[in-house]
This record gives sequence, C-alpha cells and structure tokens, in this order.
Amino acid sequence: MNTYHNDRLTCWNCPSAILRGNVDFRACGQSMRRFTSMEGGDVVIECERRPELGHFEPTINFSECPQWKPTKYGRLLDNMRVLILGIDGYLGWTLALKLGALGFEVSGVDNFLRRRMVREKGSMSVVPIASMEERIKAAKKYLDIDINFRKIDVLNRDKLADFLKEVKPEVIVHYAEVPSAPYSMVDADHAIFVQKNNVLGTLGLLFLMRDIVPEATLIKLGTMGEYGAPLTGRPLFEGFFPADAVLLWNGREWSLGGEMTPRDPVSFYHVSKVQDTFNVYEACKYWWLRSYDVMQGVIYGVHTDELATDDKLRTRFDVDEWFGTVVNRFVAQAILGIPLTLYGEGEQIRGFIALEDAMECMVRLISSPPEPGQYTVVNQVSGLYKLKTIAKTVAEVGAEFGFDVKIQRIENPRVESEVHPLEVVAENLPERGFRPRVSLEREIRRMFDLLSRKHIVRRLEKVKDTIIPRTWWSGDKRDPKVLGVYSPDEVREEEGGFRGILHMPLDSVFVYRWEDEEK
Ligand SMILES: NC(=O)c1ccc[n+]([C@@H]2O[C@H](COP(=O)([O-])OP(=O)(O)OC[C@H]3O[C@@H](n4cnc5c(N)ncnc54)[C@H](O)[C@@H]3O)[C@@H](O)[C@H]2O)c1
Repeated sequence: MNTYHNDRLTCWNCPSAILRGNVDFRACGQSMRRFTSMEGGDVVIECERRPELGHFEPTINFSECPQWKPTKYGRLLDNMRVLILGIDGYLGWTLALKLGALGFEVSGVDNFLRRRMVREKGSMSVVPIASMEERIKAAKKYLDIDINFRKIDVLNRDKLADFLKEVKPEVIVHYAEVPSAPYSMVDADHAIFVQKNNVLGTLGLLFLMRDIVPEATLIKLGTMGEYGAPLTGRPLFEGFFPADAVLLWNGREWSLGGEMTPRDPVSFYHVSKVQDTFNVYEACKYWWLRSYDVMQGVIYGVHTDELATDDKLRTRFDVDEWFGTVVNRFVAQAILGIPLTLYGEGEQIRGFIALEDAMECMVRLISSPPEPGQYTVVNQVSGLYKLKTIAKTVAEVGAEFGFDVKIQRIENPRVESEVHPLEVVAENLPERGFRPRVSLEREIRRMFDLLSRKHIVRRLEKVKDTIIPRTWWSGDKRDPKVLGVYSPDEVREEEGGFRGILHMPLDSVFVYRWEDEEK
C-alpha cells in the first residue's frame, strides 16, 4: 500500500538524475522500456544531489529516496528549484508564494507586459498590486520567502539562457504568454504580436531547455479553448484518443488510440496555444524533454492562504473586456450595478477551476515529474458550468452581500457555438492526488468579500467603462445591443442547451486526506 501518490516514481522521473553513457535518445520512442545505451548495456545515471552514489541504475523510488520528503501534496523534492516564467501575473505571483511557502527555491522572470497591455485598455488591476521590488520585500517580510527575480523578455534568448544557467531549474512553469482571446482579435498588429510572443517565446524556450536543462520538467500552460466545443459531443480526452477509440469509414475500421485529438481553437490567441502544443510535443519527441501541457480551464477567484496574508501580497485582478475572465468580471459587474453580460444564448459551457485549486494542481504536477520524453496533457478543470449558471450564482451570492444583480443577454461579439454539448475527461490530476476543495459559491463569496471593500470599489468605478465588450471577432468596435434583461430567478438553467459532463474519478489513487488534517 502506497502512502503517497508519487511513491512509486523512480530516478527516471527525478530531475536530479543525470543520464550518463552514450545514450541514443532518438531511437527510444516514448517508452522507457526501450531505453538502452548504444553499447547495449544498462542505462546508468548520476544523482546531482547524491554524488556519493556514483553511477547506478535509475531504480530508486521516491519512497526510498531521502530527497523526496513527505508533504500533504505527496512527496516533494527538497528545496526543489523552480523557475516561473510570467511570475508577475495573476497565476505566476500566486504560485510563487505557494511554492515559496512550501520550501521551493523560487526564481522568476517577467517583462511586465501584462501591466502594459492593461494600461493600453485604459484599465488597471482593481486589487492594488505593488511593484515587483515591493512584492519581493513583502514576500520576505510576511512569509520568509526569497524570490530570485530577473526582468527578461522570454523572446530574449541570450538573457534567458544566462538566467537558466544561473538557476539550473528542475521545473519550469511557463505562464509568460498573452492570455487574452479578445486582445488577439483587436487588429492585425495585436494578432501578430500575440502569436509572436506566445509561439516564438515557447519555441525558443524549448531549444534552451534542450541545451541547458534537458532534465527539467516543463509545465506549459495551454487552455481548454484549444479543443473548442465539438458539436458531435465527442469527449475531450486529455490530448490523445484512448486505446479503444476507433475510426469507422467506408466499411473499414482503424484504431485512433494514441493519436492527438483534433483541436478547434476559437481565436488567434487560442491558435497560438495550439501551435505551442505541437511545438512542445515535438520537442519531447526529438530531444526527450518532458512536459505537462496543461489545458487550463477558466480560473476565477482571489484566494490562497499566502495571498491573504497581507494586502501587499495580493495578486492582480482585472475586469476589463480584454483581460477580465468571466467569473471575475461578473462579480465586478454585480458590485457596480452593471447587469451581468451573457453573450448570445448564454448556453455556452466552459470548464472552470478556483484559483486555490488551480495552484494545488500545479504542486501535484510538480510532485510527479514526467519521464524523459514524456509529453502528457492535463485537463485542469474542477467543474463545467453554463455561463447562465455562472451568472445566476454570482447574482445569488451578490444578493447575500446586499447587491440587487440583474442579468442581460447581449449580442455575441465572438464567433462561437452558443449551444453545444461538452464532455471532458480529467483523470491525470486525480491520479496525482488532486481533489477539488473550493466550490464555485465559496470562491465567489470570497471575491465579493474582497472586491466590495471601499478602496477596491473606488478602483472599480474608475475602470467601469472598460468592462462591456467592444472587440468583435468581425473587426467591429462597437457596443453590443442588449437582447433582454432578467432577474436571476427568471434564468432557467435546465431549460435549453446541454449539460456539461465531467469524468473526474475522485476516489482513484487518492491517499492523503485533507479532511483528516482539517479535523
Ligand atoms: N487565468 C486563466 O483563467 C487562464 C486560463 C487558461 C490559460 N491560462 C494561461 O495561463 C498563463 C498565465 O495566465 P495569467 O492569467 O496568469 O496571465 P497574466 O497575463 O496575468 O500572466 C502572464 C505573465 O507573463 C508575462 N509575460 C508575457 N509575455 C512575456 C514575455 N515575452 N516575457 C516575459 N514575461 C512575459 C506577463 O507580463 C504576465 O505577468 C497564460 O499562458 C494563459 O494563457 C490562464
């Protein structure tokens, strides 16, 4: 009986293991069973952290290795060196504090692009955030965390190479991309910029990893929007078809097992993520890099224990039409008295996850490094909701805080299916011990609690005019027409459309129980 989800991983998975001998990487496919040295002997490694072991076969498992210490997230590598690209962002800063509090050695890179793009919209983070210098001081003062930060544009390969050599990260979390679909649809300049920044940044990083830190895990952020929403209702598997999937055509049958599933991106931003997917997949094939490609659902919320320690540690929170994600924006609209904006039918179903749960997912992935050559897609969501359900929930929680919230249907500025099925398979995170802990209502309550504080309401008032979408996929720049205004009890979630189906086996290999700790 294992105690931790990663007990049985071995040196194969560990970034401290340096492969030795004349190993032919190219001949190995994706299976470690075929991984032999060119002379035909056993593959040997040296351990960067335990040089006294000399050369040995990579068979020590994590439960036997003193470097992998037990924690509530499974075993974690002692003082593991993590590099967060995009550390100044919504997720990057939150993760930096979380990992720092867990004892990771945290380094980070950012070029403050996000701050500039939000200014370009005429907006700002409504939760005040400090400069990076002040953030780092606050992290030290309140959480005793040291953060090694460097201002670098990921596209600047020379500078990034120097930093990689200095830090020698064992895991790289790559958040440093433009995260906005509407921003990529503004005009040709914006579309080209987004694709250049995202696609070429990641491609350059892959080459640097090959040459400088091939043992490190790359955790790359993609999006559930890469898949689109297939109207056939076909399940969204984690990147690849399962072994028993078949294609029937013209009286003949083929196995689809192991083939990448079709992608159907819904903006030029999403296209950049699909391109990343192929580039990362290829790099794992060609050079035996290892990666988790995270198909990230929409993240909402403001809370982790670390962020809540002091106001100086808060992460950014945007509500404008370019950078405000839907739940975050709805809560701001509720406080400002702007009816919550459903695009078109409001029957669109999306995958969501609370900020705190998303951060736990990242720790779980970091605790389970892939083997050399392993490219694994992770669907990172904890619930599937219709947008009208999200609006109704925000309105209901808003009422608890004394807000009279209305909901409006407006013309849809995007080109997307407004009524569609959605079935998502999310097995890889539960297999690594993840269990969602934060319900939609709970996090929305936390958001109202923070955003309705006086100093934040004043900031919300200032950016009020940036909330309603004016960026059309057609190229138009205009206010959408209002199609109807409703009170929350007039919104019938069960009427019309489809229900999202999420396959997330929560009683799988989970061992550590939060409930036990919380008793
Ligand atoms: N937040 C979500 O709901 C969500 C959902 C799906 C996917 N994602 C993905 O997660 C990642 C992080 O999202 P976020 O919400 O934290 O976005 P963010 O914009 O707040 O964070 C990204 C950070 O990367 C930095 N950056 C961008 N390009 C850079 C470059 N070339 N060099 C250096 N720094 C650069 C930005 O300045 C910013 O601080 C993105 O890749 C995004 O596409 C986020």
